[in-house]
Amino acid sequence: MEVREKELSDRLIAEHRLSTEEYEELLTNRDEETAAYMAAAADAVRRQYYGTKVFVRGLIEISNICKNDCLYCGIRRSNRSCERYRLSAEDILACAEEGQRLGIRTVVLQGGEDPYYTDDVMCGIVRGIKERYPDCAVTLSLGERSRESYRKLREAGADRYLLRHETADPEHYGRLHPPEMSYDNRMRCLRDLRELGYQTGCGFMVGSPYQTVRNLAEDLTFVETFRPEMCGIGPFVPHHETPFAAEPAGSVELTCFLLSVIRLIHPKVLLPATTALGTMHPQGRELGIKAGANVVMPNLSPTDVRRQYELYDNKICTGEESAQCIACLASRIKAAGYEIALGRGDFPKEE
Ligand code: 5AD
Ligand code: FES
Repeated sequence: MEVREKELSDRLIAEHRLSTEEYEELLTNRDEETAAYMAAAADAVRRQYYGTKVFVRGLIEISNICKNDCLYCGIRRSNRSCERYRLSAEDILACAEEGQRLGIRTVVLQGGEDPYYTDDVMCGIVRGIKERYPDCAVTLSLGERSRESYRKLREAGADRYLLRHETADPEHYGRLHPPEMSYDNRMRCLRDLRELGYQTGCGFMVGSPYQTVRNLAEDLTFVETFRPEMCGIGPFVPHHETPFAAEPAGSVELTCFLLSVIRLIHPKVLLPATTALGTMHPQGRELGIKAGANVVMPNLSPTDVRRQYELYDNKICTGEESAQCIACLASRIKAAGYEIALGRGDFPKEE
């Protein structure tokens, strides 16, 4: 590690911020030693707030029907060979019940932008879960909606919302999305969610097509200033039926480095070791946790549809073994020196 990288790392550890230029410099000149140094510091601050706990969120993939056409995503509307499905309210409640039975106290309802889930339908589902399981946190990840829609869902009882910003550079955003989608609307959504009192999650892919180190530095500055409660990052993984089929996947090493940086920027942030990270490396999620992540999101979707929620190729936990996700994750996490924490795992209140 050069003197300069040591200086930047130490300043990030002490002050929880760097300039965008400095983030860029740190990312460009990082080496193994810097990564190990940052990961150790990230792990130490995480232990201050969360000990060795890794929170579990039960992920229910409610629909792979999507009106959008994001260029990177396997469930984009242009993908004709995607076998579509949507879960009914009853299906979703059954998954939530299974989560409860396993001791999970956060469910994440994630899906494509499927017009079937109107505000009335979705509010009914959220209320249904909250009535049956009042101590269960409900997280939504349903893409861009109107402020009014977010307001109604919040009123129905939704606690948290995940909406990755995808990239903090409007021009880069334009190259990953069709013309009818806009960076400005994405940011409007994130602001609305925040103002409506959701614990809000942003995030981005690592190694998405056209992404520069400068873009990643801008993502870090965005995370620094937006101060999300959650931040989802994972490597880009190509999907064979998208325009980005032939693009290279993002790096596991860089993803882990970024997890450490984000942990150091926001010591209390809830940071998942994502399925995409687990897809790119057999120990990807464990590596993510060691680098500073403290959330895992095992799949609670009905096993017969898991394969169909295919955002990218080779997604893990879709086969025979998938009913065992929680047990499998728990033993892996234990082996890595951490422990599964059931319970809501809310963002700690700011002093
Ligand atoms: N590779 C990795 N992540 C992807 N996502 C969508 N498609 C891909 C892909 N090909 C991520 C996006 C989205 C989240 C639900 O999944 O960042 O916000
Ligand atoms: Fe799904 Fe291990 S976490 S099989």
